[in-house]
Amino acid sequence: MKKEIIRIENVSKIYRTGDIITYGLRRIDMTIYKGDFIAIMGPSGSGKTTLLNIIGLLDRPSSGSVFIDGINVVTFSDRQLAWIRNIKLGFVFQHFNLINRLTVLENIEMPLIARGIPRSRRVELVKDALLKVGGELSWLPKKPLQLSGGQQQRVAIARAIVGSPEIILADEPTGNLDRASAKTIINTFSELNKYGHTIIMVTHDPEMANCTQKIFMIRDGVIVDLKNPEIDKCILRTVI
Ligand SMILES: Nc1ncnc2c1ncn2[C@@H]1O[C@H](COP(=O)(O)OP(=O)(O)OP(=O)(O)O)[C@@H](O)[C@H]1O
Ligand SMILES: [Mg+2]
Repeated sequence: MKKEIIRIENVSKIYRTGDIITYGLRRIDMTIYKGDFIAIMGPSGSGKTTLLNIIGLLDRPSSGSVFIDGINVVTFSDRQLAWIRNIKLGFVFQHFNLINRLTVLENIEMPLIARGIPRSRRVELVKDALLKVGGELSWLPKKPLQLSGGQQQRVAIARAIVGSPEIILADEPTGNLDRASAKTIINTFSELNKYGHTIIMVTHDPEMANCTQKIFMIRDGVIVDLKNPEIDKCILRTVI
C-alpha cells in the first residue's frame, strides 16, 4: 500500500489586486504518495507555481484543505508551517531566491543550519550536493550574482537537496540549463527518487516530464488531465 504524504482537497486560490480578482487555482484535488515522482505541466499563468507553493506550505489556499501525513495543516501557524517545511521539504524556486549577500556555501548550507548540523559536516554535505547537480567547488566562496543564471539554478537545486528532505518541490528546475546540465539534474532527481524521496517538479519540457511517473496537466487553475509519461522519450535516454 502506498503511503499518502500530501493531499490537497477542494483547494482554491484567489488573488485580489484592487477590484480585480484572479483565480490562481479552482477547486483542485490532488494526492501525492511517498516515493512519487510527479511532473506538473501547463501553459504560463495556468497556476503551476501557485499549486507548488500551496503543496510546499509557502502559501495558504483561499479555501480547501491541505493534509500532510494525514493532518490538515490549514489552521497551523506560520511558525508551525515553517517547522514542517524545515524538516520535510526542499524547495527549488522558479526565481532561485538565493541570498545575494551570502556566499554560495552559506546559501546551500542554510537548511542544515536550521537542523543544527555541525559546521564541518555541513561543508561536506554542501560539497556533495553541489557536485551532484553538476556544480563546481570553486563557486563556494562566490556570491550568487557572480555566477551565471544556470549556475545559480544549480546552487538553488543543491540547497534544496542538501538536507536529503523527504519531499523535493522544484519549480522549472532546468529552465535555464542546457541539455547536458538538465540531464544531470534529472539524473540526480531520479537517483533521489530511487532512494524513496518524493519529487514534484514543474516543467515546460516534455522530455523532462517523460522521466517522471505521472504528469498532471493544469490549465486555468484546474487539473485537466493526468498522463502517463512516455518513458522512451525521457531525456535520460536521448543522446545529446
Ligand atoms: N501574487 C499574485 N497576485 C495576483 N495574481 C497572481 C499572483 N500570483 C499569481 N497570480 C496569478 O495567478 C495565475 C497563476 O499564476 P502562476 O504563477 O501560478 O502561473 P504559472 O503556471 O506558474 O506560470 P509560469 O509558467 O509563467 O511560471 C496567473 O493568472 C497569475 O497572474
Ligand atoms: Mg510559475
